[in-house]
Amino acid sequence: MDKRKLMEAALEARSRAYTPYSHFQVGAALLTKSGSVYQGCNIENAAYTPTICAERNAFFKAVYEGEREFAAIAVAGSPEGECRDYATPCGVCRQVMMEFCDPKTFRIYLVKSADEYREYTLEELLPMGFGPGNLEKREKQA
Ligand code: THU
Repeated sequence: MDKRKLMEAALEARSRAYTPYSHFQVGAALLTKSGSVYQGCNIENAAYTPTICAERNAFFKAVYEGEREFAAIAVAGSPEGECRDYATPCGVCRQVMMEFCDPKTFRIYLVKSADEYREYTLEELLPMGFGPGNLEKREKQA
C-alpha cells in the first residue's frame, strides 16, 4: 500500500475523535501484512479512565476481525484544529503493539500531514519490551 494513503487514513480517522475533555484529537491507521487498513480514533469519557486511545481502538477493531499480522501504524495527533505536531503513542499503546508485532520490523509513522511524517520501529519506541516471546521462554525452562 502506498504510504501516502496510510497517512491520509490516519488524518481522516483523527477527524472522528471524540474529545470533549482534552480536545486532543488522535487518529490511527493500522496496516496489516495482507494490505488491509483499520482506522481508530481516541474516544474520551466523563469518568476519564475509560478513554481509549486511537492506536488501541484500531488494534482492537482489527484483532476482533481476525487479524494477527501487522506491518505498520500511522498516528496523527495534535490539539483540535489542523494537525500541527507529531504525537507519539503512549506507553500502554506501545505495549499493545508489542503483543502483536515484531519490534524489529513493525513501523510506526508519526504523521503531521500526508507529506510530513517520521518513521520509527517499535523497538526504537519500546526498547527491551516485554512480549509474548518472554513468556514462551519461561514455559520452555519449566
Ligand atoms: N491519546 C491517544 O489517542 N493516543 C496516544 O498514544 C496518546 C494519547 C489520546 C488519549 C486522550 O483522549 C488524549 O489523547 C489526551 O491524552
